[in-house]
Amino acid sequence: MNDAIVKRARSVPDQKVAAFTGEGAYHGSTKPRSQPVPQARPVLVEEMRPTTLEAYAASGARSIAELDATFSNRYEVKSTLPVPTQDEIKSDGVTFCWCLIDEAIAEAGPLTRRVLEEMTKHLRRDKRFIYIDSKIQWFEAGDVPVDSQHWHVDGSIAVRDERVQALGHRLLHDMRARLEGHAAPPTYLAYQSSMHCATQFVTGPLSVRMPELIPNFDELDLRVRALDPPCESQPASSIVAFDGLSLHRAVAARSAGWRLWIRCSETDHEVRLNPSLVECYGTVFRSPADR
Ligand SMILES: [Fe+2]
Repeated sequence: MNDAIVKRARSVPDQKVAAFTGEGAYHGSTKPRSQPVPQARPVLVEEMRPTTLEAYAASGARSIAELDATFSNRYEVKSTLPVPTQDEIKSDGVTFCWCLIDEAIAEAGPLTRRVLEEMTKHLRRDKRFIYIDSKIQWFEAGDVPVDSQHWHVDGSIAVRDERVQALGHRLLHDMRARLEGHAAPPTYLAYQSSMHCATQFVTGPLSVRMPELIPNFDELDLRVRALDPPCESQPASSIVAFDGLSLHRAVAARSAGWRLWIRCSETDHEVRLNPSLVECYGTVFRSPADR
């Protein structure tokens, strides 16, 4: 059985819904884990090397410094496809969780396959792995696709180990390493089908003073919101390109409906699937007042 491929029929009553807390990180990465998942550590690649944290560990520094971070916010609409019908989305049948692209194309439903074939025209093919994530979700008005609406970047250098605990945290994102790292950040293509629930992207370079190691995206979100930079909502049925230095955020659905979301990640980092991630993938988040 391949955990990266989920084949099942969809219906509104079957949509998983959880209380929106705002605490979850995107796709569950910073939420405290109830129990450690015993896994061999993947090979450390330059793209994910926490060089700032390594320097803290070497020097014994205990207080986290700030830096003037400039996010390049490369965001570009690469292609726009016909907007699918609600029934095409609902009946597409197959979703993916960190599935290698060739396997995803072979197993995809007709709508997802058309999107993936279009994506292949825009791949850079300069990293070791090309992964596909996708979700078919039913939203009521006000539902959020993930448990956070914070401005954030994807593919951050997130570390949970004794070096992080020495600084008083469970998890830290090494933002200086991502911003100044010698290796290029991961790159992404993303598709979303919807008129009613579109990811927002910052559209130009933005400088933000921030801690160089951050336990979550709370503080960065506050600072970006205070700067109120120009941004754009991803057009319905478009494929956009961005990278690991592109600020974006989820927004709540404006009305009810199905949405297909697909992300293609090009990265040197090998992803080891965690069954608890597959389990929660595709859940929508609802404010307690709306439940
Ligand atoms: Fe994201």
